[in-house]
Amino acid sequence: MAKTIILIGRKGGSGKTTLAHAIGHGLGSLHTPISALVVTTEADSEVPKQGSRRYLSVDDRSGASLQAVLEKAFDHEKLVVIIDGAARRPGADAAAADLADLILIPFTASRQDVGLALMDLERFPQAYAVPNRWPTHPGTKERAARLLNAIPHDRRMPLVPAIPKLADICDHELYPQLVSEFAAPCRTLAVEALTRMNLSVQDFMDS
Ligand SMILES: Nc1ncnc2c1ncn2[C@@H]1O[C@H](COP(=O)(O)OP(=O)(O)OP(=O)(O)O)[C@@H](O)[C@H]1O
Ligand SMILES: [Mg+2]
Repeated sequence: MAKTIILIGRKGGSGKTTLAHAIGHGLGSLHTPISALVVTTEADSEVPKQGSRRYLSVDDRSGASLQAVLEKAFDHEKLVVIIDGAARRPGADAAAADLADLILIPFTASRQDVGLALMDLERFPQAYAVPNRWPTHPGTKERAARLLNAIPHDRRMPLVPAIPKLADICDHELYPQLVSEFAAPCRTLAVEALTRMNLSVQDFMDS
């Protein structure tokens, strides 16, 4: 059965779409690549064209076919399905989260974002918060560290910094030029996600 990761959270612009594609790209960029399928659910998002992309993506922006997409994908044992949740459809996301092996809630370094992430963590007791675009510069990182302390240590993933050029990961024309630019941080994120599901690359290798 395929493994499923969902990125959710009621805060818009926290990085759900970007990190969903970053994990897909990271899995597809491993030394032994793991097949990944990113499911786009956000009505406003464009589904990136396949081209040379190292992972698959599928359109479920209508919200009608998520169940069918998942049922089909679930038959593929060595596949990771990554659902890009949408801030504006919390009901559908909650239903999908019930099926997920890993729930990730990205948040950025603001009091409002941290507050919303804490509420989402309460709603999804098995979820992890992902500090995203996290400040690493001296001067901003002390304040950011204080914000981070509000989230219990065992409920968060390692922080993800602002990754140069990652904002263009969905761009069909730029992707081929950028593939190797952000492969390393994407691999780190992908391996961390596998670890949180008690999986490793070996679990996806042909026996
Ligand atoms: N780690 C990162 N490094 C660099 N840019 C990032 C990172 N995470 C997010 N971004 C950028 O921040 C912006 C918002 O991210 P994104 O669109 O992924 O958020 P979202 O949660 O999917 O938003 P929405 O709720 O509207 O669907 C985008 O321009 C994206 O490319
Ligand atoms: Mg989005």
